[in-house]
Parts: sequence; structure tokens; C-alpha cells
Amino acid sequence: MSISIGIHDLSFATAEFVLPHTALAAHNGTDIGKYHVGIGQESMSVPAADEDIVTMAATAAAPVIARHGADRIRTVVFATESSIDQAKSAGVYVHSLLGLPSSTRVVELKQACYGATAALQFAIGLVHRDPAQQVLVIASDVSKYDLDSPGEATQGAAAVAILVSADPALLRVEDPSGLFTADVMDFWRPNYRDSALVDGQESINAYLQAVEGTWKDYTEQDGRTLGEFAAICYHQPFTKMAYKAHRHLLNHCGHDTGKETVAEAIGLTTAYNSVVGNSYTASVYLALAALLDQAEDLTGQSVGFLSYGSGSVAEFFSASVVADYREHLRTKENLQAIDRREVLDYAGYRALHERSFPTDGGEHPTPAQTTGPFRLAGLSGHKRIYEDRGEPTGAPPGPGG
Ligand code: HMG
Repeated sequence: MSISIGIHDLSFATAEFVLPHTALAAHNGTDIGKYHVGIGQESMSVPAADEDIVTMAATAAAPVIARHGADRIRTVVFATESSIDQAKSAGVYVHSLLGLPSSTRVVELKQACYGATAALQFAIGLVHRDPAQQVLVIASDVSKYDLDSPGEATQGAAAVAILVSADPALLRVEDPSGLFTADVMDFWRPNYRDSALVDGQESINAYLQAVEGTWKDYTEQDGRTLGEFAAICYHQPFTKMAYKAHRHLLNHCGHDTGKETVAEAIGLTTAYNSVVGNSYTASVYLALAALLDQAEDLTGQSVGFLSYGSGSVAEFFSASVVADYREHLRTKENLQAIDRREVLDYAGYRALHERSFPTDGGEHPTPAQTTGPFRLAGLSGHKRIYEDRGEPTGAPPGPGG
């Protein structure tokens, strides 16, 4: 008998600050319609000087540990493309901040925005081998493009923590997956740069090619038909991309591409991404959180996922929604994570964008800005120093985990 494995819990965190697109438009003279309607973005999260992928990840994961405990977690997989070290996994810092047991394997994965989906699938394999174990999958990224570049309006930052388990409380991940890899230079970040390089139109085309490619493979693997999905969560570098992608898929399958048909499948998935911006690996799972938080009861229905990472690798897969899932959502906390952000003016945003640590190995404390539970206190002798600010991070573990 096959066991059901999938997403048992999902929690997200974003940054301390937010820049409304109105402020960016006022600075660069862009018609706000281009941002609000053309790319479908209202605002973007901006990390404080003492935040990074580790602090966001620990903030996202702490409530998961608080609810379920860490006894069954023997693996932490940290997916990111805004890595802070070429050797040490960012997950090891999170492991330490959360006080996880030493009998844990921790690893970092990278393939642009696709990494978290690889992590999820690998986690399912591990749980399959031993259903008593759970895997903590973390997706955490800061999306950064050059100032005054076309990509600037699609920046953002967030982390998602997903607990993968047998008998999941939220979604059962199904077989098969549709897979697609193509060697393209649509978006990349050489090791010596801290902002990404992108060929904007090429990246949109590459994404649409990948949608077609994954769907072809998914169909050949006897996947579900398009009509069976209650909704589809797309990777959302900007939320209009999900609309483009879904129209493309409907058209490819010979379906109606009318506004209502498209909105029915993805309308509820864009709420968080439109105000957080591109969170790379986390984006498709923020789409899931928005869907689960807002939809009428989805029990028993199938949700499709299209995970795309530039370069490029993509995967289409599905999951079915578990009965009583709404009792396990974190809707209030999710809204709080978004609403608590402090609004930046353009000058404040620019100052943060231009910040980088000196590379001389000296003592470089960061200004205390974040009000989140964890902070990056600074750099000392080339080492990143993190602090637990002692803020409450969630409810104590309940009985049964
Ligand atoms: P751009 O070239 O400045 O914008 O940058 P545009 O001229 O293409 O306009 C955008 C849309 O706004 C167009 O709509 C315009 O018509 C519309 P479309 O033709 O696409 O439907 N528009 C307006 N609408 C209403 N009122 C107005 C108005 N003016 C214009 N007044 C671009 C856009 C996305 C290329 C740029 O932001 C960019 O380079 N972004 C970064 C790359 C990106 O996000 N690519 C997406 C696919 S790749 C991906 O998803 C992977 C990624 O997440 C990385 C990873 O995997 O790690 C990026």
C-alpha cells in the first residue's frame, strides 16, 4: 500500500521593510499602471541591514518547530540562490538558531527559483524510506537587481518553511511530476556579483517554454488533465507572469483562455506575491499559502504547481488537499508578516540597496533595525554573527506533534 506524504505545515516570513511601487514609479518617472497592471506588483519587501536569508529562514521555521517539536526532523534542506557562503550551508546557522538536535543532516540546494521544489521532492523520498522521519524544507531568498534596471521593480524577499511528513495535515504530494531542463542564459548571477543579471524578454520566453516542456512530460507520465485542477500555483517573479503562463498552457492544450477561466485557476494565488515581490525559491509556496488562506474549502481537490528556475529547470506536479486542512493554516500570522513591515521611502530603500559588507575581515557590526526574532549582528573576522533577539516565535508544541 502506498503511504501519503506531503506538506504537514507551512509558515512564511518576510523582511522588515516594504517599498511601495508608487515610490519607485515617482523616482523613475514610470507610469504606475506599468507596475500595478503591467507586471501586477504593488510593493516589494526589503530586508533590513541586519536581515538576510538566514534570519528570514529561522523566523519562518521557528513556529513550525514550536508547533511540532524537532524530535522527528533528521534532515534540513535549505534551498536558496542568494547564498551567503560558498561552502557552509545557510541551514547550519538556522539549525543553530533554532536549537535543533546535532543528529540532523543539513544541506543547501541551488537551481535558481526551482531549488525548493527539488528539496520538497528529495524530502518526500527520504520520508518514503522512513515514514517516522520528517524533513524541514526551507526556501529563503533576497531578490536583488541593479538600481534603475528593468528588473528592479521585480525585487522582493521572503522565506518559507515546509514540514514534509507522512500523513500530512495540509497536502498530499502526488506522482507523477513533469520535468524539463534546458541550458539557457535568461537569468544568472556570477559568484562575484550580489545582484542578478537578466535578459528580461528571454527569461519570459524561457519560462513559457518550460511550462510547455513540463506539461508535455507530465502528460506522457499519465498526469492529471488540466480540467482536474482547482487551482495552479505558478512561480511568480511578478504576478502577471502567472497569468501569462496559465494563458500559454491553456492555449497549448486547446482550452478557452478567457479572463474568467484564467482568474479561476490563479486569481487567489497572487495575493502575497503581489505585495512581497519575487522571493525566488519561496515564490511558488507563497502562492500556495495565499491560495489556502483565501479559498473556500478545497478538501479533496487537486492543486497544480509549476516551479521554474532560470537557467533552466522546471517541474509540474500536483497535490491533493487534505480534509480539515483549514485547522492547520497560519492565515493570521501570514497576514501579520506582511502587515508588520515598515514602509520605506525611496531614499531609505536606496541606502539599503547600496549597502554591502567590507571584505577586509574586520569588525563590522550592523545597525539594529529588525524587529524580527533573529538578527545578523555583523561580520567579524569574515564570520557572520547571528543573534536570537529573544522574541516569542510561536506556540509551544502541541500533543502528538
Ligand atoms: P520592462 O521591459 O521594463 O517592461 O520589464 P515591459 O515594457 O515589458 O512592460 C511590462 C508590461 O507592462 C507589458 O505587458 C507592458 O505592456 C505593460 P505585457 O506586454 O508583458 O503583457 N505596461 C503597462 N500596463 C499598463 N499601464 C502602463 C503600462 N506600461 C507598460 N502604463 C521585465 C519587464 C519583466 C522584463 C523586467 O521587469 C525584468 O527583467 N524582470 C526580471 C526578470 C523576470 O522576472 N523574468 C520572469 C521570467 S524568469 C523567472 O521567473 C525566473 C526568476 O524568478 C529567477 C530565478 O529563477 O531564479 C526571475
